[in-house]
Amino acid sequence: MKHKNLIDLEYMTKDELEQTIRMAGVIKQRPDVYSHACEGKIMATLFYEPSTRTQMSFQTAMMRLGGKTIGFDNPMNSSVAKGENLKDTIAVVSGYADIIAMRHPTEGSAKAASLYSSVPLINCGDGGHFHPTQTLTDVVTLNFEKGRLDHLKIGLCGDLLNGRTVHSLIKTMSHYEGNSFVLISTKELTVPDYIKEILEKSHCEYEEVNNLKDAIADLDVLYMTRIQRERFPSEEEYEKQKGVFVLDMDKLKLAKKDMIILHPLPRVDEIAIEVDDDPRACYFKQAEYGMYGRMALIVLLLRAEGSFVFELPDPIVSVQHKCSNPKCITNDPQQFYLPKNFYKKNDRVFCDYCDYEIN
Ligand code: CP
Repeated sequence: MKHKNLIDLEYMTKDELEQTIRMAGVIKQRPDVYSHACEGKIMATLFYEPSTRTQMSFQTAMMRLGGKTIGFDNPMNSSVAKGENLKDTIAVVSGYADIIAMRHPTEGSAKAASLYSSVPLINCGDGGHFHPTQTLTDVVTLNFEKGRLDHLKIGLCGDLLNGRTVHSLIKTMSHYEGNSFVLISTKELTVPDYIKEILEKSHCEYEEVNNLKDAIADLDVLYMTRIQRERFPSEEEYEKQKGVFVLDMDKLKLAKKDMIILHPLPRVDEIAIEVDDDPRACYFKQAEYGMYGRMALIVLLLRAEGSFVFELPDPIVSVQHKCSNPKCITNDPQQFYLPKNFYKKNDRVFCDYCDYEIN
């Protein structure tokens, strides 16, 4: 049977996602039931980019399931420093481990790695593209804290252009009835057009605003994000955006008593420290809940049989096309061996690795 990879949460059906959320709840309630679920199994965590939560929560998740972990958190301490390409690293590591969790700075790297892995591979972030287990963390948190995934008014604030967690959360929550979105950002950092297309297609109400104080009163959920310095073309561009949106107690006083504040973390300055003691601040609990979501995901991916199979679009191989996204893995000369895979959707052609539309 073909093993399963988690490249994006969109490839999970609603049933599979809900199965994972339910299992996360059971694990949180009765961790003893799952404490031997992965005995004898090894997870490799390959982090080509810095991480605290994703890396450590995967490692902790595997250990709490009775499994063991190997890996690196600095590729310069591995043979990547000697010029080893992604294909070779993955082919070798998948001979050592039963499951791989990988973060890589290049868009489409997770899909590329999955082609050479003989074990399930989990995308822990591929550049500005996808970060599915953060979205899993977010929906598990919404379920724990609000008891539902529908009929929520969700405000998302900050770097809505570069925040992959924002895009992924909007996509997932747009599948649930009655959700509406307030997109709070400067005009330079609004969500990309494809996200607005998704919202329109799903008939979700949304508005774009540039003032957090005016928007906060009606929200059920406020999802704050960091301005992503590392994704800006220059320090000057970053300086213009940083510090524009700060959640402090003055603004929080205007919010509903049962609104919850989420943040994928790390925080820089967008939530004042004083907010941490407010019962609506859920971002540290959110990081813990992510571990239960990841435990459930590992168990489900490692099950040899079952209905937990992600359907990916069949790629078409084309030597005529070239991905025009400069950040795509196929444009990294070291990964020259990657097949030229694209897929068609509504007569438009997209790169199979980074999902960039090909003109
Ligand atoms: N939220 C998140 O991905 O955090 P890390 O970068 O610390 O893993």
